[in-house]
Amino acid sequence: MSSVDYSERIPNNVSLAHDRRLQRALEQWQPHFLGWWREMGPHGFDTSQVYLRTAVAVDAAGWATFDYVRMADYRWGIFLAEGEPGKAIEFGIHKGQPVWKEVPGDYRGALRRLIVTQGDTEPASVEQQRLLGGSCPSLYDLRNLFQINVEEARHLLAMVYLLQAYFGRDGREEAEELLNRRSGDSDKPRILGAFNEPTPDWLALYMFTFFTDRDGRFQLASLAESGFDPLSRTCRFMLTEEAHHMFVGDTGVGRVVKRTCELMREHDTDRVRPYGGIDLDLLQRYLNFHFSVSLDLFGSELSTNAANYYSMGLKGRFRESQLEDDHRLQESAYPVLEVEEGRLVTREQPALTALNERLRDNYVDDCQKGVDRWNRTIKAAGIDFELKLPHRAFNRRIGRFADLWVTPQGRVLEEAEWRRLQDQWLPTQADRELVLSLMHPVWQPGKFAGWIAPPLRGINGRPIDFEYVRFD
Ligand SMILES: [Fe+2]
Ligand SMILES: [Fe+2]
Repeated sequence: MSSVDYSERIPNNVSLAHDRRLQRALEQWQPHFLGWWREMGPHGFDTSQVYLRTAVAVDAAGWATFDYVRMADYRWGIFLAEGEPGKAIEFGIHKGQPVWKEVPGDYRGALRRLIVTQGDTEPASVEQQRLLGGSCPSLYDLRNLFQINVEEARHLLAMVYLLQAYFGRDGREEAEELLNRRSGDSDKPRILGAFNEPTPDWLALYMFTFFTDRDGRFQLASLAESGFDPLSRTCRFMLTEEAHHMFVGDTGVGRVVKRTCELMREHDTDRVRPYGGIDLDLLQRYLNFHFSVSLDLFGSELSTNAANYYSMGLKGRFRESQLEDDHRLQESAYPVLEVEEGRLVTREQPALTALNERLRDNYVDDCQKGVDRWNRTIKAAGIDFELKLPHRAFNRRIGRFADLWVTPQGRVLEEAEWRRLQDQWLPTQADRELVLSLMHPVWQPGKFAGWIAPPLRGINGRPIDFEYVRFD
């Protein structure tokens, strides 16, 4: 099961050749997918050779090879992590029963909605990042962008496989719709808010891959716990790819921070704009924006949908099997931040309905670790400044804080006062223009734009000045 068949039109480890009906459905969808990639994938690099990794197996050690590939020739495949014999459902009312190999009839609609919502984010990010190649800060970064793009496109195929293999005609229709929606389109937008925001510059890309891809990590991790085994195994393999996307965000922001600190030291100033750098307070405003829109992706604090998904055994908690409780949660409580007469207070709520908030808490903790790393860089440079995650109620559009005007420090204001101050907290037009003005492409191997430090090491043991993208 673990070996991948690359002799087929769609490489896979799911024995596609033995399921003619499914193979035909996927091969009918594939040209539409390739048409979408040509139209909405990376713009302007059709003939370039990119040093990409391609999955060749699904075991933890050595699952990928690295080589030059034209992106249009990338072999998008269907890869599921190994099944575990005798595996049982870990949570919910079916806890202890064998995992499902087919969709349970009663849960068909709920399961389809979960898969479509996840699937929709994958092509959305490719669309959002489509023009960034033209302003890359280095070939190393360009290659990383394209690696993310081809893998997000593969994640779309991964979800489409589930839809077509297990959901019949509805699944085929959903698979088409995934190619018809467009990020930011007023008529046919992508499903979730953050995936309709533009990613106009590389600072936004690093923030997006740190904060928004990390939401993806937590959603995938919860779906990897699913009692529907094909979904669990699909998500488990996606998570191995997702790690690189967050690495790009984490180290990307970290390298900008590092470069800013160098410029601050060199010129003995905290205003590095005149020297082609990005000021720390501007970084903070970008961070505030991307963190707050990503928090919205977890949904309402209290949600009966989330409770149902859990009880049905479809979507678990982060690292469900490592948690020590009854894994049913019918009697337990969980603390949730609430609004009471304009004040923020913590109240115990039924743990089942608070599952979105719990996942958001896991996410916030994980984000904080990255911020701590960036702050260590600032401190090591002897600079007195700290990047901070804004309060979770700041700048929200979804959930109970959506109607509230909260500062990054967590103070509730009147709307007019908040609007008067918002330029201190969120990227301004001038910030966006400044960052855009720095986005000049750097095409020589080993050279980096002046606003970002080089990485510590290259990809797959290659040197930093390796020719990660070849323009022929
Ligand atoms: Fe993804
Ligand atoms: Fe991703």
